[in-house]
Amino acid sequence: MEKLCVLFLVSLIHGLIATAARTQNESEAWGYVEVRPKAHMFWWLYRSPYRVEISSKPWPIILWLQGGPGASGVGLGNFEEIGPLDVNLKPRNSTWLRMADLLFVDNPVGTGFSFVEESNLFVKTDEEAATDLTTLLKEIFNRNESLQQSPLHIVAESYGGKFAVTLGLSALKAIEAGKLKVKLGGVILGDTWISPEDFVLSWGPLLKDVSRLDNNGLEMANSLAQKIKQQIRDGQYVSATDSWAVLEGVISRSSNSVDFYNFLLDSGMDPVSLTAKLLQGIAMKRYIRYLSTLSSSPGGNGDINSLMNGVIKQKLKIIPENISWGGQSDEVFSNLAGDFMRARIDEVDELLAKGVNVTVYSGQLDLICATKGTEAWIEKLKWEGLPSFLKMDRSPLYCGDDTTTRGFTKSYKNFHFYWILGAGHFVPVDQPCIALNMVGAITESPAAVKKTEIDFLIKQTKP
Ligand SMILES: *[C@@H]1O[C@H](CO)[C@@H](O)[C@H](O)[C@H]1NC(C)=O
Ligand SMILES: *[C@@H]1O[C@H](CO)[C@@H](O)[C@H](O)[C@H]1NC(C)=O
Ligand SMILES: *[C@@H]1O[C@H](CO)[C@@H](O)[C@H](O)[C@H]1NC(C)=O
Ligand SMILES: *[C@@H]1O[C@H](CO)[C@@H](O)[C@H](O)[C@H]1NC(C)=O
Ligand SMILES: *[C@@H]1O[C@H](CO)[C@@H](O)[C@H](O)[C@H]1NC(C)=O
Repeated sequence: MEKLCVLFLVSLIHGLIATAARTQNESEAWGYVEVRPKAHMFWWLYRSPYRVEISSKPWPIILWLQGGPGASGVGLGNFEEIGPLDVNLKPRNSTWLRMADLLFVDNPVGTGFSFVEESNLFVKTDEEAATDLTTLLKEIFNRNESLQQSPLHIVAESYGGKFAVTLGLSALKAIEAGKLKVKLGGVILGDTWISPEDFVLSWGPLLKDVSRLDNNGLEMANSLAQKIKQQIRDGQYVSATDSWAVLEGVISRSSNSVDFYNFLLDSGMDPVSLTAKLLQGIAMKRYIRYLSTLSSSPGGNGDINSLMNGVIKQKLKIIPENISWGGQSDEVFSNLAGDFMRARIDEVDELLAKGVNVTVYSGQLDLICATKGTEAWIEKLKWEGLPSFLKMDRSPLYCGDDTTTRGFTKSYKNFHFYWILGAGHFVPVDQPCIALNMVGAITESPAAVKKTEIDFLIKQTKP
């Protein structure tokens, strides 16, 4: 890794400490914001080297929110999915920097390099996480007029969707009150866990249709899913989380270990234990392991843990000695057990009613946040545009000169949907070309407008 000249900055906001550092040429900056006393949130901002100046269109900035809860955006989203370098520190062709600046955050506190000094400081609800994130955005944007020119697009994957919609509302409120200086460009939900009930109900029927479960497996899956639905209805969210873990175990056994992130694959995981508590930890490790199997290309060992706790920690210079990347992740998950199964469909409705652009994208082969479940929660929206949206035809998506159908899309007013073929849960990894083009179109990136600069082109034709 190259030698870096790093500049350090320390500031106090209402008695809370913010520490920041940046490379000499300012292409990267990172830091900690103490979002509450003794609760420290880590962020990492990349300025795009592909920036195109078009006066009519500002250069966008993307805030990437990882799932889990407890999975690190700074580690996984950045090095495994969309950042400038992969886990072997080789340049990533399809980095989303081609379309926007990228802001990775280890959210909520306790995730990745973020940490709490006392265990009662972990967040217990999505709203608490959104409040911390809003505090972080104020610290990053309010004092920087150049950043304020870039519309902020909140892009979320998996559990991150529940943070994204609560953050969208919290940020809007702060913007309207004049307390946050940023323009909200939109909220983008990629294979997100917006309605847990709809996802668990989709698992059995989907897997039966593709021969991965038989009727016995289907019956067991459906009866557990119905139990979860009732628990959610009764407000028993912690029990619903426990049942969710049991259901994952039942499906793993009945399907001979189908992969929850791509139902065409086997998960390489060890035999599943039925204790819910253990399973939650396993779910997190499985998430990290799945991503690292995707990235362990020949020639590199691709171990994200040793990368983050090794050269990256050394490069960043401001990570406390006794903080290890991912050290508090399991506690992030367990503290959110009371909110994990709570739906956030109403928040999507609120964003739509406020005129915010909401985009949903979904990988065809995802199981955990299956397209079938996503379509089910979308049909529950109270948004007045829904009937018109549902009636519309879709447009096919292609990549470059290739005539293979890569997906479909349609938009009505401020709601947009992309179906991505051949992708599982991690769409930017499985279909980098179409994902990059999609994000360029959604953010209206000047780079997507000035197409000659880009190797990848979307050709959209009306059916
Ligand atoms: C900024 O400096 C880093 C090395 O510190 C280098 O890798 C990067 O290419 C530079 N970026 C620009 C835009 O000059
Ligand atoms: C605003 O942020 C950008 C990106 O990190 C940086 O290049 C610039 O120097 C910052 N401006 C100020 C006034 O801090
Ligand atoms: C990188 O982009 C080029 C086209 O510019 C393409 O041929 C190549 O396959 C891409 N590599 C990866 C790893 O996506
Ligand atoms: C790290 O060490 C400092 C002082 O050495 C201590 O105050 C702090 O609580 C420690 N943090 C953790 C998470 O162990
Ligand atoms: C929503 O996105 C469309 C492009 O799809 C854009 O024309 C419009 O200005 C955006 N609206 C808002 C409020 O950002």
